[in-house]
Amino acid sequence: MNRSLALATRPAPLAELPMPVPAEIHPESLLALPPGEAKQSLLTVHSILEARLPAGPLAIYEAGGGSTSYLPLGVLRRSHVTVVDIDADQIRNNAYAQEAILGDIQTYRFPPQRFDLIICYNVIEHIPDVEAVLSGFCEALKPNGLLLIGAPNPKSLSGIVTKYSPHWFHVWFYRHVRGEKHAGLPGEAPFPTHFHPLVTLGNLEAFAAGRGLQVIYRKKYESPRYPEMRRRKPLLATVIDVAAKAMNALLPGKTDVRHGDYHVILRKLGS
Ligand SMILES: C[S@@+](CC[C@H](N)C(=O)[O-])C[C@H]1O[C@@H](n2cnc3c(N)ncnc32)[C@H](O)[C@@H]1O
Repeated sequence: MNRSLALATRPAPLAELPMPVPAEIHPESLLALPPGEAKQSLLTVHSILEARLPAGPLAIYEAGGGSTSYLPLGVLRRSHVTVVDIDADQIRNNAYAQEAILGDIQTYRFPPQRFDLIICYNVIEHIPDVEAVLSGFCEALKPNGLLLIGAPNPKSLSGIVTKYSPHWFHVWFYRHVRGEKHAGLPGEAPFPTHFHPLVTLGNLEAFAAGRGLQVIYRKKYESPRYPEMRRRKPLLATVIDVAAKAMNALLPGKTDVRHGDYHVILRKLGS
């Protein structure tokens, strides 16, 4: 794969950043989610992207790209992907982008109307100034371009626990409940969280409407941590499931506190 690597706001010398080894991308890497609502919603996202994106080559910006792409292979194969990430290790681990930029998505700016699709997946919860990020996205999208955001729901059980617990607890959870031995090491999740008010889906939608972005898909779904926990730690999962059911029974309406994450796809209006 031909790939360029650029330096944006950080003083890391380019020569010291080794190029990633090109990897054969397998569908499993895109759908490495346990069966459940999260996987179902991602499949729906894939079908919308396949149907709504223009035919032919695509320009895609992956903001906070890390090393996992959530794009359908049919889209990925005809795309030029530009990833911007603030973490040099994440940039090194990224094997699918053609252009990798070490930079801060709050301040990094592209020429206007450059991208058909912008993806920001599991990132906005880590950002102090989400408004700056979204303003940059609005500018960089082509008219009719799509913006896919995947994020935790701050009003869910897992969202509240994540928002109000210290970072060491997130590292402990990843290591001992999720079984990720390298959690918290450089370039490895979990990353520190901020939970700016715009991470809340209602606030995000209101902001989007004011910036000429139309919601074409929105789905809150059960966090993949639940099916993962049921498989890895059944006793803990049972306790949490019982607690979640009790909370759901006490809360008004059809609130499901297990809806820990959401997908939203926005379309930039205009011709
Ligand atoms: C939880 S990871 C998600 C990575 C990838 N999108 C995924 O879903 O696998 C969050 C990513 O956001 C990046 N990030 C956090 N703050 C950032 C910022 N201000 N600018 C660019 N990237 C940032 C982190 O370095 C990390 O790669």
